[in-house]
Amino acid sequence: MRPTVIVNCAMSVDGKIALPSRKQTRLSNEEDLARVHRLRNQCDAIVVGIGTVLADDPKLTVKGKYVEEARQPLRVVLDSRFRTPPHALVMNDAAPTLIATTCYSQKRGNVEVIRCGTKRVDLRQLLRELDIRGVRKVLVEGGEAVIGEFLRSHLVDVLYVFVAPCVIGGRTAPTMAGGTGAATLDDVVRLHLEGVQRLGDGVLMEYRPSVTQHLDD
Ligand SMILES: NC(=O)c1ccc[n+]([C@@H]2O[C@H](COP(=O)([O-])OP(=O)(O)OC[C@H]3O[C@@H](n4cnc5c(N)ncnc54)[C@H](OP(=O)(O)O)[C@@H]3O)[C@@H](O)[C@H]2O)c1
Repeated sequence: MRPTVIVNCAMSVDGKIALPSRKQTRLSNEEDLARVHRLRNQCDAIVVGIGTVLADDPKLTVKGKYVEEARQPLRVVLDSRFRTPPHALVMNDAAPTLIATTCYSQKRGNVEVIRCGTKRVDLRQLLRELDIRGVRKVLVEGGEAVIGEFLRSHLVDVLYVFVAPCVIGGRTAPTMAGGTGAATLDDVVRLHLEGVQRLGDGVLMEYRPSVTQHLDD
């Protein structure tokens, strides 16, 4: 068994999740933000990559504005070389934080740092470590490299995509799934559409991947 993995992302109509400069763009509208905070509140951990921490400096907390009784999930950063700056907001005391690296394992203040893999953070090993810590539901929020890797590894159970009514354009703007992409049609990640909902001026889609793997598969 492994924790349930939910991926959430907001994109433009042309599938971009940020500007070509990789600067954060607000793509979620108020309705979607409320949904994301409720979703965070139902999860035990929120996972992002170091690219997102360096680009956006997110807090990754649940805002009381959107949720009646906010409980703060564990914030998890995939950061092989431990580049998370000490002043990054994920390092503050607003919620517990775990940094998964390949080089270091020692507590940094209140932040737990673990070694998980050799080249890059090994996602299966990470899910095992989270399971040991009682994490049953993981929310993966980005960015493109991390979402791409979870999808390619068939470790995603549910995928939420919010499509904002805008076009960002540009070849270099990050998309929902980065990395090298599918080499052949067989490598394409197939999805089942489970639901479509209008959220204000945007659209929310819920998918389930056709193939999902457990840790011993
Ligand atoms: N619209 C949205 O919903 C949304 C949400 C979040 C982020 N974003 C955007 O996404 C962009 C950041 O994306 P990104 O691709 O640069 O960064 P990212 O996916 O957040 O982080 C990628 C980094 O994580 C580390 N990593 C460690 N283990 C990994 C593994 N197994 N698989 C993948 N990565 C691993 C790697 O760095 P090391 O090798 O150094 O560890 C890698 O370069 C920003 O522009 C941000 O604004 C958008």
